[in-house]
Amino acid sequence: MSILAFSCSGSLCLLQLLSFVSMVMSQRSLDGEPTFPYAHCPPGSNNTASTKFMDNLGHLFKGNLYDESGKSLYYNTTDGEPPDKVYSNYICRFDFSPETCQNCVDNAINSVVERCNGTKEAIVWYPTCMVRYSDRNFFSTLETVPSIYSWSAANITQPFQFVKILNQTFADLIAMAPSNPSKYAIKEGDISDFERLYSLAQCTQDLSTEDCRACLNTAFDRVTEDNMQGKQGGRVLIPSCFVRYELFRFYEEPEVVGPPGPISPPNKGRRRKKNSSARIQIAIITASVVIVIAWKLWCEGEALELMDPVVMHSCDAVELMNCIHIGLLCVQEDPTNRPTMSSVVVMLASDSIQLPQPTQPAFSVGRVVENCAQSSSDGKVCSINEVTVSNVLPR
Ligand SMILES: *[C@@H]1O[C@H](CO)[C@@H](O)[C@H](O)[C@H]1NC(C)=O
Ligand SMILES: *[C@@H]1O[C@H](CO)[C@@H](O)[C@H](O)[C@H]1NC(C)=O
Ligand SMILES: *[C@@H]1O[C@H](CO)[C@@H](O)[C@H](O)[C@H]1NC(C)=O
Ligand SMILES: *[C@@H]1O[C@H](CO)[C@@H](O)[C@H](O)[C@H]1NC(C)=O
Ligand SMILES: *[C@@H]1O[C@H](CO)[C@@H](O)[C@H](O)[C@H]1NC(C)=O
Ligand SMILES: *[C@@H]1O[C@H](CO)[C@@H](O)[C@H](O)[C@H]1NC(C)=O
Repeated sequence: MSILAFSCSGSLCLLQLLSFVSMVMSQRSLDGEPTFPYAHCPPGSNNTASTKFMDNLGHLFKGNLYDESGKSLYYNTTDGEPPDKVYSNYICRFDFSPETCQNCVDNAINSVVERCNGTKEAIVWYPTCMVRYSDRNFFSTLETVPSIYSWSAANITQPFQFVKILNQTFADLIAMAPSNPSKYAIKEGDISDFERLYSLAQCTQDLSTEDCRACLNTAFDRVTEDNMQGKQGGRVLIPSCFVRYELFRFYEEPEVVGPPGPISPPNKGRRRKKNSSARIQIAIITASVVIVIAWKLWCEGEALELMDPVVMHSCDAVELMNCIHIGLLCVQEDPTNRPTMSSVVVMLASDSIQLPQPTQPAFSVGRVVENCAQSSSDGKVCSINEVTVSNVLPR
């Protein structure tokens, strides 16, 4: 954070990129970088779907898993008749626009179809959304298994104060979210003059107040389990609810500022001329290992999701995506695929150039720290093997 002025005036690509880089470096540790999507679909005869079920699922995914109005961040629907009836829902984090939500749901459908082909129950989590289907009617039902959690690698510096604020914060979240008709809450608390804790809790909207509260209590139990203690941030993902806390402001305030727009392909208009100092900075940035993170996010279509919200509010998202796009092109594995400096200049200045899609950059770094929580009902430990972690591949 420190070296970087946090201004977006003039919407300089440079400052936006630097803010992005600083956010990645200081707030999301490389080690703890959670890898999305998480898909959960245990193999085996118990989870093998009939052909008719797969037909119904295909039909549902082709068109039915959309809110008619296109406005909802939660939706549930069915297709077919028993015994091959499919129940399915999606939920998006409350601070995202319906367009971003639908984009995420589309990605989630694609990855669940790919990873869980032939199973009659599956769930997939992205940072922004969750998509789930089953042959059971799970609507309006509290389900706390499987649960997945991930945390940031960075250790807290003031354990007692941190845990105290964390406890207070979650007590407030668990009091507020269930009674909110939209079933979410955010809460902030000061750990010190320099550190502020940001937290979020959300249940699927079909849950009752009591079930939502029970789900969030389960989530908080996971947070307080040993592995999560002492870490600066974490998430718990449960079919019926999710929570997240960080030492940075990872969510948008929907009441104050509109959520970000859809993630558009970064090759259309609206680019302004950049001056030469910005271009030089871009070249420096692209040499950074941080580009790997940008690459991962790019592949997941989530590059904007993790952008510092302060930057998001005041900056031009399309322009920012352009900068990241060009940055990725500059670190292609094959040097012949990298643009020359003069073409980078043209790309930055042009409104209409069609940029090529980047492939995997030449850097590789990072380790996924993740785990599965113990199931509350049957005591079964959900191991890493049950969580299909994505390979990062270009789409
Ligand atoms: C399959 O389901 C049956 C009945 O629900 C259960 O008894 C059995 O243990 C399950 N088998 C596996 C491999 O999970
Ligand atoms: C969504 O779930 C609710 C129960 O929570 C149910 O009443 C409703 O019919 C479902 N919607 C669809 C389209 O199936
Ligand atoms: C799913 O599996 C079926 C049968 O094995 C196969 O024909 C189909 O192409 C697969 N679909 C996807 C999206 O992988
Ligand atoms: C956090 O603390 C643990 C245990 O004290 C230590 O092993 C680990 O290296 C620390 N992580 C970081 C990022 O400093
Ligand atoms: C925080 O909550 C946990 C679990 O409810 C409890 O064990 C712990 O003592 C609390 N810590 C503080 C500092 O309040
Ligand atoms: C170029 O950008 C820098 C900030 O990076 C700014 O100080 C300078 O005034 C800009 N030059 C022009 C010609 O806009």
